[in-house]
Amino acid sequence: MGCFRLMVDTIKLFFLMVADPFIRCFWCIFPKPKKSIKGEIILLTGAGHGLGKELAIRLSDLGAVMVLWDINQENNENIASKLRSLGRSVFSYRVDVTNEEEVIRMANRVKQEVGDVTLLVNNAGVFSGQPICKLSSHVIRRCFEVNSLAHFWMLQQFLPRMLELNRGHIVAVASMAGHHGVANMTDYCASKHATVGLMESLYMELHAAKKANIRLTTINPIIITTGLISNVRTRFPCLLPLMPVEETADVIVKSILREEEMVFIPARSKYLNDMVACFRRKTRFKILDYTGYGFDPVVEKEPTKNGAEIV
Ligand SMILES: NC(=O)c1ccc[n+]([C@@H]2O[C@H](COP(=O)([O-])OP(=O)(O)OC[C@H]3O[C@@H](n4cnc5c(N)ncnc54)[C@H](O)[C@@H]3O)[C@@H](O)[C@H]2O)c1
Repeated sequence: MGCFRLMVDTIKLFFLMVADPFIRCFWCIFPKPKKSIKGEIILLTGAGHGLGKELAIRLSDLGAVMVLWDINQENNENIASKLRSLGRSVFSYRVDVTNEEEVIRMANRVKQEVGDVTLLVNNAGVFSGQPICKLSSHVIRRCFEVNSLAHFWMLQQFLPRMLELNRGHIVAVASMAGHHGVANMTDYCASKHATVGLMESLYMELHAAKKANIRLTTINPIIITTGLISNVRTRFPCLLPLMPVEETADVIVKSILREEEMVFIPARSKYLNDMVACFRRKTRFKILDYTGYGFDPVVEKEPTKNGAEIV
């Protein structure tokens, strides 16, 4: 009986593996229909600036109830008031997502004042752009606290209710830097690799718990025009552009509505990355030098918001 079962399982798996590329092609040609998020309670971190601000506008446009969290109260309030003046349903809170106690307290407030969050967008992030020997321990810790650890505090507050409802969607804004290494980004790359690892493991955990109705989306953009990363250069802007923040937000919203799992922005960045990874490290350096893509380390030690530009 055991032998027969093993044979059936092997044949089933074999056919699934053979069919996989065709299924992939099918979904590329006929993408999933977009879901509605009207009335959905969406909690978005880092909503006051850059990508978060653009996502807040687009998601509220679609009729969602927005809960905006940011450590910068002024920026957060500005975007909240702008959306309220358009008649949108918006709740804004000043929260430092690295402070676990504050996250617990504010999550309880949201549950009482707004309701069950069914779409969580972990977007808040920081960046310093320094060579490893110049990074202070404070900057390294902060990078991991905001870019990686905060995701745990947020998930622990909002995932349990999603599991009870057997419904929900978690979005992590990671980065292309979570898939390869970049000079002067050791802390940032490591923190984003951690986030990608967290999301990949969560897929496994939800699968094991048979909670497939909880959707996960990991977003991996290249450099965006938010000012988070400054002194950016690229020799081939058509191939490796500095992504306009509005375009990036449009792609993210579309991916959320289609419940895509792993999103690279632009999509070709994944294929370029996979292709380059086939070469020896020496050749990879040459390819990188040739593309001239990257950034020069900033002079300041703390995270900055200088305007990024293509040089
Ligand atoms: N800008 C890029 O080139 C780029 C590229 C890839 C990925 N990303 C990622 O996209 C996300 C958004 O980045 P962005 O470019 O919009 O940055 P940004 O600096 O424009 O905005 C980040 C927001 O997060 C908030 N924030 C920072 N620390 C916080 C904390 N402890 N608690 C709550 N809020 C906090 C800031 O106040 C700010 O409003 C980040 O996770 C970033 O790592 C950015």
